[in-house]
Amino acid sequence: MKKKIKKAVFPVAGMGTRFLPATKANPKEMLPIVDKPLIQYAAEEAIAAGCDELIFVTSSSKRAIEDHFDKNYEMENELEKRGKKALLKIVREVVPKGVSCVYVRQPEALGLGHAVLCAKPVVGDEPFAVILADDLIDGEDKNCLQQMVSVFRYHSTSVLGVEEVPHTDTDKYGIVKADLFKERLHRVNGIVEKPNPKDAPSNLAVVGRYILTPRIFDLLETTDRGAGGEIQLTDAIARLLEEEQVLAYQFKGTRYDCGSKLGYLMATVEYALKHKELSEEFSAYLNSRFGESSAARKKA
Ligand code: G1P
Repeated sequence: MKKKIKKAVFPVAGMGTRFLPATKANPKEMLPIVDKPLIQYAAEEAIAAGCDELIFVTSSSKRAIEDHFDKNYEMENELEKRGKKALLKIVREVVPKGVSCVYVRQPEALGLGHAVLCAKPVVGDEPFAVILADDLIDGEDKNCLQQMVSVFRYHSTSVLGVEEVPHTDTDKYGIVKADLFKERLHRVNGIVEKPNPKDAPSNLAVVGRYILTPRIFDLLETTDRGAGGEIQLTDAIARLLEEEQVLAYQFKGTRYDCGSKLGYLMATVEYALKHKELSEEFSAYLNSRFGESSAARKKA
């Protein structure tokens, strides 16, 4: 099996109902955090981790994603005419040289497992990454996928990105049953999709990062509909770990659930506070707006 992860799959066919009406005509993955859409953060993470083929599993309402990663001649001409070099660079570098984008349609909304299976003809017989763009992860030192690729290089098995979540939230995630054997690294013995907190095997949740061996495709082909009537990636992973070792890696960094309004707002504030053009003014604004009252709260 190949040792390098060159292909990243982005399932982007979901409807994004939690953000309606913003997502009525605009894909949820195109919502910006400050000045960059979520899907571009995800693409940049994959590229920095060594991927050079980005595979988007889309649906009919997601054309804006294809346009975003395509050349925009009209805009480039206009910016060139006006001498706006910095902006031109930003527009041109959305897809760096040497990186290609492939689009595959998911004809029916049959779930994450089905979306990943739609990428099979493009991925072929090699290990690959899956990134869910609405889990935005601000990695420490290296980005989350880079950290996971290091784990994969050493162990050559599937790796799931996980983090501890409150016990009450297990019904929002795929939850693993696992044994810690190295710092941040667990052997997975079981995995279940969105268990009720009272039945959850742990509070280690899979967030939207996966490195999978191609065997997952054969298993997805014969995986029945599970939770929510959908073909669940989690169920296919549960079968994979009967045949191969699967590892769970607790990444270093902070995850923002940008599929929820609160997580999206938190990410916006944190990324704005780090943004090179905005950080000073935005933090001065926050201080002027909340500084006094939060100081007063602390005293009380
Ligand atoms: C999906 C997966 C789930 C995973 C989650 C991470 O669920 O099915 O196992 O924990 O992504 O965000 P969704 O959020 O699409 O319902």
